[in-house]
Amino acid sequence: MTRHLTLRPYAPADLAAIYDICLRTADAGKDGTHLYRDPWVLGHRYAGPYVALEPNYAFVLDDGERVVGYILGVPDSIRFAAESEAKWFSLLRPLYPLPGSQDKSPDAGAHRLIHAGCPAPEQPWLSQYPAHLHIDLLPAAQGRGQGRALMEALWGALRSAGVPGVHLGVGAANPRANAFYRHLGFTELEKVEGRFWTLGYDLR
Ligand code: ACO
Repeated sequence: MTRHLTLRPYAPADLAAIYDICLRTADAGKDGTHLYRDPWVLGHRYAGPYVALEPNYAFVLDDGERVVGYILGVPDSIRFAAESEAKWFSLLRPLYPLPGSQDKSPDAGAHRLIHAGCPAPEQPWLSQYPAHLHIDLLPAAQGRGQGRALMEALWGALRSAGVPGVHLGVGAANPRANAFYRHLGFTELEKVEGRFWTLGYDLR
């Protein structure tokens, strides 16, 4: 049965579901549960600080029983870098010791992400695209126009705050998401060949 989906603002009770979706879309858009021993660590990087520090820019899809998708944004990546460092990553690091360089496991990679924090890209385009976002839908919610709807909800919130543009990073291993963003009108800001693209969307 195809369930009706409601798009609504994030509520604190959604946190565990958002962490779960983060993991279930972590393998270049596909289920990453088999890759990580720690099911929470990716959420600590890509979800927790966003909803904790910028809850007004977080929206979810609710099928009546559970949350099946989200978009998480921040209006100002420079401010978010500083706040997430002071109020999030610096507190988490003692729980996630930096692994040795010989440890190539996905968990070790995720621990390194906690140590890297979320610095803003030092690029000339950042003033034009100061916001950034993450979006993930479970497979049952994909391909039904809900990704666009989530994006439009975030764009609306960012426009209301006078934000001129938003950027995102997408891995080269995720051609579906890459094509989705370009279809919506995102343009290429940067490319690291074979690894990832940085794309931008003009909100003015
Ligand atoms: N190629 C071309 N057009 C596409 C593609 C594609 N691969 N996918 C969607 N579209 C088009 C649709 O046809 C539709 O067009 P229209 O509105 O003009 O009719 C429009 O894009 C919107 O499509 P949706 O159905 O809203 O897309 P969906 O709900 O599947 O959301 C998303 C796309 C977010 C990539 C979703 O499939 C998903 O969550 N995938 C798994 C997780 C993932 O990869 N997340 C991105 C990680 S990168 C990051 O967060 C920055």
